[in-house]
Amino acid sequence: MSQKRPLPRELISAQAVKDRISALARQIEIDYQDSEELVCIGILKGAVFFMVDLLQQIHLPLAVDFFQTSSYRGGQEAGEIRIRKDIEILIRDKDVLLIEDIIDTGYTLRTILDLFRFRGARSVKLCTLLDKKAKREVEVDVDYVGFEIDDLFVVGYGLDIEEQFRNLDYIGVCDPPTDQDK
Ligand code: IMP
Ligand code: MG
Repeated sequence: MSQKRPLPRELISAQAVKDRISALARQIEIDYQDSEELVCIGILKGAVFFMVDLLQQIHLPLAVDFFQTSSYRGGQEAGEIRIRKDIEILIRDKDVLLIEDIIDTGYTLRTILDLFRFRGARSVKLCTLLDKKAKREVEVDVDYVGFEIDDLFVVGYGLDIEEQFRNLDYIGVCDPPTDQDK
């Protein structure tokens, strides 16, 4: 573990995050009210805090599963995504809602979206808490966005720097990770 980092400065308050999640939940509930089978898939680990708060406010029958890719700074080339944990639920002919903490370059989500479509999902939509649109390198259609943010390194509400700060109830800003953080 690295030495203790100072508490990140607030970018989005806990209340603003909660309010936005409630609004997203209401929208998703409307959009999926006629869905026969909805499967919500969270991208580990960052999406977990957001996913719990969001899904508790969606009053529809739905299944929950998780997917995990290789970590953000694994020393790999951009665009090279490795599956660390696959989903267990079969998604053929089902409506899939992918839940992510943040979209940056877009490589992770582009790969996952293509994979789930290839597996025959009836529909695949994407919901992200944060979107760093300016950093996008590959095109990804995002259906639900909590907040668009500038090119900052953010933590909290599931997002981490070297596994720290996931449990903050607000979104804060940190200095980006250095090579020593790997
Ligand atoms: P992408 O493939 O570049 O879109 O990367 C998305 C992943 O990078 C996210 O799921 C996060 O795990 C990580 N990431 C990107 N930006 C940040 C950030 O500002 N803070 C923490 N993690 C980030
Ligand atoms: Mg992530």
